[in-house]
Amino acid sequence: MTNRNIDKRQIYLDVAKLHYHTLKTGFLPTLGINFLALMYQCIDEANFSILITKYKNSKLIGFVSGSLGSSGLYKLMLNHPLTLIITLAPVIFNFRKIKKIINIFKHISSKERKKYPKPELLSICVHPDHQGKGIGIELYHKLSQYFKSLSKSEFIIVVGQSLQANSFYKNQGAEIIGELKVHPDVKSNIFIQRL
Ligand SMILES: CC(C)(COP(=O)(O)OP(=O)(O)OC[C@H]1O[C@@H](n2cnc3c(N)ncnc32)[C@H](O)[C@@H]1OP(=O)(O)O)[C@@H](O)C(=O)NCCC(=O)NCCS
Repeated sequence: MTNRNIDKRQIYLDVAKLHYHTLKTGFLPTLGINFLALMYQCIDEANFSILITKYKNSKLIGFVSGSLGSSGLYKLMLNHPLTLIITLAPVIFNFRKIKKIINIFKHISSKERKKYPKPELLSICVHPDHQGKGIGIELYHKLSQYFKSLSKSEFIIVVGQSLQANSFYKNQGAEIIGELKVHPDVKSNIFIQRL
């Protein structure tokens, strides 16, 4: 669900840049803006995931993405082998980063992840100039509506314990139901939002 008046490639680039700048401490931004743009293109194009954007005067001010099952998403990225190779070329010999990519794949298919519901909020970001004005809540509600429209009764959110967003999710009524480590050095909370 993206803005129809703006070129799609521009939307994926805008979303990638906002993710890059608002979630700097995360691992995915270290793979580069072009990798993120491809990831959001796949999220938007897949029939089991959604990208919801909010533009103001042609500027992206926020977005949320979610999926009914994130394992399919990474497989979809493999359908763009050339773009994937080009976007990952700068990190291909970076052993630490490759190890972290493998960690993500391991996490998605792990027994631990399978204990929890598949529907998941993948990312939510609001431009710093527009935070604290209710845009995050609006996007969160739109994603909840998407899951509800598909008769899903809950979704999960995996969020690094150090992020301020933990209190945002708690305030929306989400509850912590566990914790896990996607990467050995980062602990994440698992929230569940019942709908
Ligand atoms: C987490 C995040 C998405 C929240 O977005 P946001 O637009 O700032 O959130 P909102 O404005 O909707 O809500 C934040 C607070 O502002 C309050 N608020 C809502 N409308 C408001 C208004 N008009 N004026 C003042 N405050 C308002 C809300 O009540 C809420 O308060 P609460 O958390 O105490 O309930 C945003 O901070 C962000 O992008 N963070 C960086 C990226 C990140 O960490 N993402 C999550 C990991 S994937």
